[in-house]
Amino acid sequence: MVKISPSVLTADFLELKQAIKEFESAGVDMLHLDVMDGLFVPNISFGVPVIKSIKQHTHLPCDVHLMIDRPHRYIEQFAAVSDILGFHYEAGSPVRQTLESIRSHGCKSCLTIKPNTSAKDIFPYLDACDMVLVMSVEPGFGGQKFLPSALQKLTELKEEIARRGLSVDLEVDGGINAETAPQAVAAGATVLVAGNYIFSAENISERVKEIRRLS
Ligand code: DX5
Ligand code: ZN
Repeated sequence: MVKISPSVLTADFLELKQAIKEFESAGVDMLHLDVMDGLFVPNISFGVPVIKSIKQHTHLPCDVHLMIDRPHRYIEQFAAVSDILGFHYEAGSPVRQTLESIRSHGCKSCLTIKPNTSAKDIFPYLDACDMVLVMSVEPGFGGQKFLPSALQKLTELKEEIARRGLSVDLEVDGGINAETAPQAVAAGATVLVAGNYIFSAENISERVKEIRRLS
């Protein structure tokens, strides 16, 4: 069954506790937490202290998506508050070393690619990944339109992972809704991130169930 990881980027941060409770009762699998530094991406979001507070209020695993420059400098700090810790292939860190460092701190490792990066570029690192995140929008903002080029990449990754007998989750992030969720899952996604589509719903729980039903 596909896993659902709601992105809290577009939440009202003063109401986050309530939103997290709703996610828990809706049966989501993890929480997707978008960290932005205003350098690797044009936007700034939140960092370790906010994730630490979130962690104190939920049993849901924290799926942390670092959109920061040279992330290897911060692995230790973020690993302390993450369950899955991901960073961008394009962010200027030594890729294998950073993935290994994440695992050595007890987290699951995730390597992320932007829309202009091809799936093949990260084939050499798949053995060091517990998850790969394929961005289906340019990272930096919620509420953008899904880029269909992500589908081909998911399929290429799925085939390569199967060919090598690896166990790697495939996450997709950006523009996921009732139409794109089933397409992504058909292409190979095993984890769906959804931000605006979930937060724009009147009933969060119903929307989570809808995504599951359609996928
Ligand atoms: C974008 C973030 C996403 C974003 C998804 O840079 O990585 O996680 O919040 O939001 P939607 O689902 O609205 O595209
Ligand atoms: Zn994200």
